[in-house]
Parts: sequence; C-alpha cells; structure tokens
Amino acid sequence: MSDDSLSSHLHEMDLSPQPGFTEQANGTAAMYDEAAADHEGFWARQARERIDWSTDFEQTLDWTEAPFAKWFVGGELNVAYNCVDRHVENGNGDRVAIHFEGEGGDTRTVTYADLQREVAKAANALESLGVEKGDRVAVYMPMIPETVVTMLACARIGAPHSVIFGGFSAEALHTRIADADAKLVVTTDGQFRRGKPAPLKAAVDAAIHHGDDASPVEKVLVVKRTDTEVEWDDERDVWWHDLVDGQPTTHDAQPMDSEHPLFILYTSGTTGKPKGIFHTSGGYLTQAAYTNAVVHDVHPESDVYWCTADVGWVTGHTYIVYGPLANGATQVMYEGTPDTPHQGRWWEIIEKYKVSVLYTAPTAIRTFMKWGADIPATFDLSSIRVLGSVGEPINPEAWLWYRKHIGGDAAPIVDTWWQTETGGIMISPLPGVTTLEPGSAQRPIPGIAAEILDDDGAPFTEAEKVGYLVLTKPWPAMLRGIWGDPERYKETYWSRFGPKYYFAGDGAKYDEKGNIWLLGRVDDVMNVSGHRLSTAEIESALVSHPSVAEAAVVGASDETTGQAVCAFVILRGDATDHGEDTVQELRNHVAKEIGPIAKPRQVMIVPELPKTRSGKIMRRLLKDVAENREVGDVTTLADSSVMSLIKDGMSTGSAD
Ligand code: PRX
Repeated sequence: MSDDSLSSHLHEMDLSPQPGFTEQANGTAAMYDEAAADHEGFWARQARERIDWSTDFEQTLDWTEAPFAKWFVGGELNVAYNCVDRHVENGNGDRVAIHFEGEGGDTRTVTYADLQREVAKAANALESLGVEKGDRVAVYMPMIPETVVTMLACARIGAPHSVIFGGFSAEALHTRIADADAKLVVTTDGQFRRGKPAPLKAAVDAAIHHGDDASPVEKVLVVKRTDTEVEWDDERDVWWHDLVDGQPTTHDAQPMDSEHPLFILYTSGTTGKPKGIFHTSGGYLTQAAYTNAVVHDVHPESDVYWCTADVGWVTGHTYIVYGPLANGATQVMYEGTPDTPHQGRWWEIIEKYKVSVLYTAPTAIRTFMKWGADIPATFDLSSIRVLGSVGEPINPEAWLWYRKHIGGDAAPIVDTWWQTETGGIMISPLPGVTTLEPGSAQRPIPGIAAEILDDDGAPFTEAEKVGYLVLTKPWPAMLRGIWGDPERYKETYWSRFGPKYYFAGDGAKYDEKGNIWLLGRVDDVMNVSGHRLSTAEIESALVSHPSVAEAAVVGASDETTGQAVCAFVILRGDATDHGEDTVQELRNHVAKEIGPIAKPRQVMIVPELPKTRSGKIMRRLLKDVAENREVGDVTTLADSSVMSLIKDGMSTGSAD
C-alpha cells in the first residue's frame, strides 16, 4: 500500500469502540478521572481489590527517599499464593491455568489445582537444596510449564529469580549469574528449536567453569526435556524428576513484605555491562494484574489468553506469569517457533484453543505479512476479540494487516508502551474506551503520568514537535533499582532531567489529537525484533576477538526486525582480511559472546572510523552508510575525508 492510500484508508475507518465491547470492558473512561483526582487512592484501591494481603498496608507510597520508592508500605503478601492457591480456594481449581503446546505437538493441560501441587513440590525441592529467602536463583529454561513453576516456587519462598533468556550464550549467562551471585541454577537438558533438540545445560556447565573465577553456583537442577546427552557432576547436579516429583504436594506459603525483591531481570543499557533491573512484590503484582485486566481486557472466566513472548523477557514475566495468573486467567503457552512445522502454526493454535486475546510483537506481525494473508485465512480465528502489540512502535501498515487478517476487522488493538524498568504497561489505549489511532500508543493508562520534554527539560504539548518521553509520577511496578548499583540507577534514569522526571530513553511526540507517538530510543540502545541490545555490549564482544582493533555498532532500520545490528570493524595490523570468512567469523564470535540475537546482520571491515576531534565515534554518519543514505554533515569530524575512505574501502558481508 502506498503512503497515500494508507492514510486515506486510515481516515475512512471508524476506530471508535465497537458497540457491545464497552459494556463488558474492564477498563472504563471514569478510571482516568478517578486516578487523576487521587493518584495514590486509585492505586490503593487496585491493590486491595486485585490482591490478597495477609497484612493490609498502612501507607500507599513512601517517596521520601526518591528515586527509591516503597509501595504499599507495611503490607504483606505471598505472590505465589496470589497467583495460584487463592484461585483454588475460591473454587476455581479445575480451571485451566496453562494449555501447553510443545513444539513437536505434545500437549499438557495444567489446571490451577495442578499448578498449586507443582509449585508446592518445587518450593519444597528448592528448600531441600538449601535455597533460603533472599537467595538468588538463576533460571535458564525454554518455554515449558516447569519454567513458570520454578518462578512461582522462587516467589513462594522469597528467593528472587533471575531468568536468563535461553538464547543467551554461556558467556552472557556467566556474567549474569556472577552479578546476581546465584547459588542455584534451574535449567533443562536441552530445548527444541525448529524441530530439533539443542543443548542448554552445556551452557550452564560452561558458565560455571568460566576462567579462573570461583562460581557462586552450588547446585544445578535439571529438567529432562529433550533427552539430550548431558555431562553430569554428581555433587552438584540434580535431576528435577529425581528431586521434585517425590516432594510433598503442599507447602506453607510465608507472607513477604510488600517490598521484598521478587526478581532481577538483566537488560542492555548504554554501557557494555547489562543492568540487573530489580522488582519487588506488592506494587509489581498490583500493576501486573491491573493492566492485564484493563488493557488486555482479560475476563478470567471466559477468555483464553495468549502472550507469545518468551518468559526470558519482561513481557513473559508480567504477561505470562504474574499478571494473568494473579487474575486467574486461562492461557496458552507455546514452546516453539512460528514456522514449525508450518507457517500457520500460530493460527492453528488459536483455532484449537479458541484464543480470544492475543498479545504479540510488531516484528512477528511483519513476518506474517511477508508469509502472506492466505495462511491465517485458512484457519478459524473468529474467537479473537482483543489484539495487543508490544516491544517497538507498530507501523500503521502492520497495524491494519493485524486488525484485518487476525482481528476480523473488528478487534481493538492495544499498542502497549512499557519497559523492563516500568514492570508493566504504561502507555496504551483501553479497549472499549479509546478511539484507536494506528501507530500510536496514545496516552498513559489511568494511574500513570507522562510528559514530553524539550532539550531544556521543559514540558510541551505542541503537536509534531519531537522531544523526550518522561514519567512524572512514581508507579507501583517501577524498578526499585539496578541490582548492586544504586548510583547507576540514579544516573541512568533520574539525572538527565533532574530528580523529578524518570527519563525513559525514548523519543516521542504528540499528534494534533494529543496522542503520544513513540519514536524509538534516543540513546545507544537498539531495538531488534523487540529485543533491546546495546551497541556498547556488541562492540566489546567484537573487540574481544583477536583480529579486531576497533569496532562501532549502529542499529540500521530493517523492514522485518525494526532495527538490525550493523558493525563497522577495523582489523588489527597483523590480521588479514579474508573477506567473507572473516566477516562470518566475527558474526559468529558475537553470537558466542552474547547470543544469536546479537549477531550482526552486517559486518563491514573499514580502514577508519569517523570520529570527532575529541575522539567520539559519530554513529549518525555510520548509520547513514548502513542505511544507504547520503552521508550527513561531516564538519565536526577530525578528518573529513574519513567517510569517503570508509565507503571506498569497505568490504561487506551480510547475514546468511
Ligand atoms: O523503546 C521502547 C520500546 O522498547 C523499549 C523497552 O524495551 P524492553 O525493556 O526490552 O521491554 C520491551 C517490552 C516491554 C522502550 O524503551 N518499546 C516497547 N514497547 C513499545 C516500544 N516502543 C514503541 N511502542 C511500543 N509499544
């Protein structure tokens, strides 16, 4: 579709709430006024209505030590009890919590009563391994029910989990285990990927035996998933089926302080060292449950919900584990890739389980667009009533395709902006309330406050002017800091615009209707397929290769993945450029150091890098090269001839 026909098409569409939807929606227009009139009162009500507290809280928010927040002060709760046991006690034990669909077609139905028994057994098992309240547990697992069970068992005993995405390498795993000082790792023998088993535990072994460092890991608990052969350390390694299966099926859940740490989740920042974003219990769970109810409009008694994220990312934490389970929802969990064994797998799953709420990412939608609308057309998707999008801006064309081919031209789409740091959805339409605007996340949900600031830190509301997105009031699911580094927390989020504003790192603008449009990161962070990657982290992976003298990485726009990693590399004087072989070696080196997700789409071997007189690499110019544009203003370069040198001397290799 051309831009003109796209915009005239958009213009003609009626995107106001559908008749009938509003009446049943969990979110209401009145909530905006309620929350604006009494911010803390609004959140206190959400906390009391949605969560069971074993001790009620005395104070809603303590912001006296800003930016370190305390929410629901004095309150006590058990997160796992809230996500599992209370539903059984309320007579919903037979309700399905998880419809598990394995990549190879094996299935499991886990009811809330089953989940209660499994979590109790796992909690008993963790305790028998010596895990105590406050100890950190690393979780390196694929998308299987045991992963959810492990996270909930950790929550139940108050041991913060640190889930590390199964696509990260042993090297990345090592850094994260060491930073959190984890004494237990839970993993599987292997994971299924595109129909084949791939080893997983092997990376844990390598992470533990990393260099000369003594590992904090005392025990490794291993689920058998793929029957992949594993090396075994009798002292350290324990099979899940040997330990967990025989445990008692009840476990006494202890109440935890509202501010007890629930989890650490590593994400990329602007330096080479990933940040351990940490979240606590009461506030996080409140916002997770609230947003899953009002934004996804999940009705636990009738909906079948499916969030396609991996539990290794924050979306999986909040919208597979904590939000939907706190609400007692029924969900689908799928282990595999969208094209295994065929490109209609997702639609087949939706038809099979009658999925009614689907939450996914723009990069997936664009991939399906490429595969063709005739594929979903052969399945019955009439159960779908709400669609969600997360991870990056959704371009209007993908929005329209999603609505038409997946949403039957009727389902509202919620474009949800949030971050690992925010813990839950922050900016999004409310289905049944908001008149939708394709491409825009629109406005902060009730209880959340945001502004756009100019370069001088002044808020403005002018349409089409580009500025920086900030959050202006503390919110319950906000990060409580960076694990072990309170200074970096203050510096990264609360210094750019002073202590009053949380700086999200995203550019934004308003349109003439007052909708907020997110415009991507303004720092050296890339967004590839909705995953956050740091240029600095990939650069340091590249320079750790013996042939590399210097490296600069930029995110170049990519039709499918949003952005793609493009690396410019200067080889060492004694290294020889073997053309394509060198390029492939460097790409594989990054995959080994960080994980396949960070593998550059392109590596360009160059004789020089563009630098300012003070030695700062001018990424803007490299981005021009990577995006095949005319190179912009070069006047601040120390040597203005460098760009032609780069373009002439470039030997390029690209993705397989
Ligand atoms: O740039 C924004 C983008 O993803 C970043 C957060 O990445 P991460 O912490 O990995 O969490 C992703 C899942 C919540 C943001 O700073 N982003 C996320 N959602 C959107 C988005 N950009 C535009 N629109 C969105 N809906």
